[in-house]
Amino acid sequence: MPTRRSVLSGSFALAACAGAPSAPAATRPLKDLLPCPVGVCGMSGQFGDAGWRELVAREFDQFTPEWEMKMEAILRPDRSLDFSRADACADFAGRNGMRLHGHALVWYSQGAEPFAGLDKSTFARDYDRYVREVTARYRGRAVSWDVVNEPVAEDGDGLRTHHWSQSLGEIDHIRRAFDVAHEADPDAVLFLNDYNLENLPRKGAAFLRLVETLMKAGTPIHGIGTQSHLDVEIAEGQIAGFFREAAQFGLKIHVSELDASLKSDRRVDLRPDGQKRAQQAARVTELTESFMALPDDQRFAFTVWGARNSDSWLNRDARAGSGDQPLLFDASGAPTPMHGAVVAALD
Ligand code: G3I
Repeated sequence: MPTRRSVLSGSFALAACAGAPSAPAATRPLKDLLPCPVGVCGMSGQFGDAGWRELVAREFDQFTPEWEMKMEAILRPDRSLDFSRADACADFAGRNGMRLHGHALVWYSQGAEPFAGLDKSTFARDYDRYVREVTARYRGRAVSWDVVNEPVAEDGDGLRTHHWSQSLGEIDHIRRAFDVAHEADPDAVLFLNDYNLENLPRKGAAFLRLVETLMKAGTPIHGIGTQSHLDVEIAEGQIAGFFREAAQFGLKIHVSELDASLKSDRRVDLRPDGQKRAQQAARVTELTESFMALPDDQRFAFTVWGARNSDSWLNRDARAGSGDQPLLFDASGAPTPMHGAVVAALD
């Protein structure tokens, strides 16, 4: 899981200090501007917020549960399954005519406790059962799944080591999850999803090597999810470079969790506000243009990780405080300069 530090650890790049585009006047809904679904993440605690609901219904046509379709919400300590939160999210998407993207079946950062101490055959049986029962439950409702989330090591040096890989194999636990999910829902578009793929070219390369390994092994992987929690201080061209490499696999590509923090992890951030916004506009423009340069059939969806700045996980971290502006709409639901950069790049 990226922390502010891991997301903002890219190299410092002096960006042009041109002023960022001003927030555009009222514009057409984002879902009418892109030739593919425009996604947003959310959680059941937001469904009662009229401002959030109206903005989401107007601007977006795909929904990713921010946390309530993960093991932390579904898997109980005795490894029984509680679908109440996940069902609430699926019902919300259905009521609002939004495509549902399932996130995420297997993640290194969750599930360790309920699976601790199990013998190998019980571990494997219940691993398969979890993937099978969750995927099957939303067959015909979730069009797609992040089957394995964040498989690559933080620094890009190989794959992560964790309870799933230690028990079922570094690659085999990944192949197994895709095979079981595909059998449970043959129509679901199955993704491998990770972050910092643009920010850290070494990690992006390691991720694509894993995709190649899985494809050569006949794994039913259909898509690449690049979370795109952008480090706006990275050099120009890194984002475009990753998309060019990723496109060559011919798979669907999902910008799955876009946000672009204006905060730096450095002790003292000397960047003037105008420079931060120019960096954000430049990188978000590069991302949008790179995504739009993909062949039509490879653009799966363009998803932002929150509707309003005030909804962002980046503003929930007590240490970092609030006040970051990483998304397309501000707390009042008005478009931000970042929204302007996306719309301008679409033009
Ligand atoms: O809302 C409940 C609250 O009712 C409850 O009292 C409290 C204590 O349990 O939990 C609250 O839910 C928290 C939720 O965020 C909303 O704040 C969960 O505990 C917490 O685990 C959850 O964190 C999410 C995190 O993934 C772990 O699932 C973040 O919202 C979410 O933004 C973050 O998203 C990840 C992606 O899945 C993968 N890529 C990185 C991204 C950012 O870390």
